[in-house]
Amino acid sequence: MIMDRYSVIIWPGELPPTRGQLIQQVRGIDGFLSLLTDRIDEELMDLIGPQLKVISNMAVGVDNIDLIAATARGIPVGNTPDVLTDATADQAFALMLAAARRFLEADRFLRAGKWITWSPSLLLGADFVDATLGIVGFGRIGRAIAKRALGFDMHVIFHDPSAGSEFNAQPVELDTLLRLSDFISINVPLTYETHHLVNAKFLSRMKSNAILVNTSRGGVVDQAALYDALISRKIFAAALDVTDPEPLPLDCPLLELENCIIMPHLGSASRRTREMMSLLAAENLIAGIEGKRLPNCVNPQVYS
Ligand code: GLV
Repeated sequence: MIMDRYSVIIWPGELPPTRGQLIQQVRGIDGFLSLLTDRIDEELMDLIGPQLKVISNMAVGVDNIDLIAATARGIPVGNTPDVLTDATADQAFALMLAAARRFLEADRFLRAGKWITWSPSLLLGADFVDATLGIVGFGRIGRAIAKRALGFDMHVIFHDPSAGSEFNAQPVELDTLLRLSDFISINVPLTYETHHLVNAKFLSRMKSNAILVNTSRGGVVDQAALYDALISRKIFAAALDVTDPEPLPLDCPLLELENCIIMPHLGSASRRTREMMSLLAAENLIAGIEGKRLPNCVNPQVYS
């Protein structure tokens, strides 16, 4: 138990600490177990002090942490990959199905008392068999989505200059992916380069029947451009597990659209997955405090 061995400060609030609260709590700590809602930048690292030995993020994405600043200070940063791959791929697939077959719209339709009879053309959606799924970012989660798509008899193409092929998926240029895909799944980390990767130009190259699914980070999608593409039916639908900002303000225009599903960032939210993520985050934290190599380190340069 971490509590038996170390002196531990646990943030008690349900809401994340404000910047001011964070600054008050973290001065002098040796290890920081953070959530994706905690922004850890250069200024915070300096306020914590030079004794900081590890930042352990309970997430696979680490865009909330300034990695360059951590590496420059020799601080290893841990994350929680692998254990959440299946749950997140399941969520992406569930969103593809829900958007294609208009689950939420149909549920709202029924609850509003609009269902008067079975009809051959009622709330028709998209097919999966023989459809083309384009995966942008073919890392662990992208590949797990491709594996699932095989079972649905889909054609899978992907764009990722740094990845090889797996699960019968064909590598293609981004333009080709946009031109051919009936479903597009976004699976790239949020970086300076991927911020607003899905912008008006990207959306204008998609097919008019296409469905966009994002389970990575909200910042990868330009939401204003997505709203325009959805309201004008330039694309068929979108399903977002992540938004920018989070939580999404209730006056966000995307919430008015029938063809847009929005989830409160639940990609890894299955019981077993969250248990494994917390164990891995604790292992990273303890290893760092004890001066050992982190089991999952995103900036291994600190060891060379
Ligand atoms: C969740 O979004 C994660 O990065 O683990």
